[in-house]
Amino acid sequence: MIKKIFKTQDGSPSFIIDELDETYHSRNGALTEALYIYIEKGLSSWIKNNNKKEVSIFEMGLGTGLNAYLAFCFCNKNNIKLNYYTVEKFPLSIEEIKLLGMEKYLPYPEFHKLFKWLHSSDWNTNNFHEDFFFKKSNLDFLDLTINKKYDIIFYDAFGYNAQPEMWGEKALEICFRALKPCGYWISYCSKGSVRRCLEKLGFANDRLQGPPGKREILRAIKPV
Ligand SMILES: C[S@@+](CC[C@H](N)C(=O)[O-])C[C@H]1O[C@@H](n2cnc3c(N)ncnc32)[C@H](O)[C@@H]1O
Repeated sequence: MIKKIFKTQDGSPSFIIDELDETYHSRNGALTEALYIYIEKGLSSWIKNNNKKEVSIFEMGLGTGLNAYLAFCFCNKNNIKLNYYTVEKFPLSIEEIKLLGMEKYLPYPEFHKLFKWLHSSDWNTNNFHEDFFFKKSNLDFLDLTINKKYDIIFYDAFGYNAQPEMWGEKALEICFRALKPCGYWISYCSKGSVRRCLEKLGFANDRLQGPPGKREILRAIKPV
């Protein structure tokens, strides 16, 4: 499928797949959305509530690497050890990442090399940058057997209309099983059927105010 680059409201770029009418990020701001949902309401909130100096994150859909980069920056600035595992079914090429030009909009210029490294590092192997552990697997999430347990899941699949199978019980149950007690599942999604499915699986749900242009988002917490 052909991807086109477009500018989101805050100036940061993203991809759109016309055939699916799907974007990789919110049209209201790719960077704004990632910082608000995954970093503020996900990572930062989990760290505050759990008072930990180490965190394990699983991301469904590495895509442009924006969430991974921001998570690394947050952890580095707050002296938190980060273990990051992500799966991606349709990896973007290095050429596509270059063309996107996300780096120009990323905070923390001192870490821009790390953004490149996220993309140039090998697939399906353990990678280290000092004490940051990073592994990306070129796999379909739905085929995944997750053996480890994570503190946070960044659930960043395409939307329900494009990928209903990613928002149903089978996919969400993989998430429930992959989380530790008190673990967070966080997403841009606010769909009622997804919320009900998360509840059925045993999650406690928070309906949070969304980033600009979005009324609500979902954060689900696995009970102790
Ligand atoms: C909405 S985009 C978000 C990408 C990324 N988080 C970012 O910030 O750029 C969804 C991503 O999930 C990937 N994806 C979709 N279905 C998948 C699946 N079944 N398994 C693994 N990755 C998948 C897509 O290829 C795409 O990169």
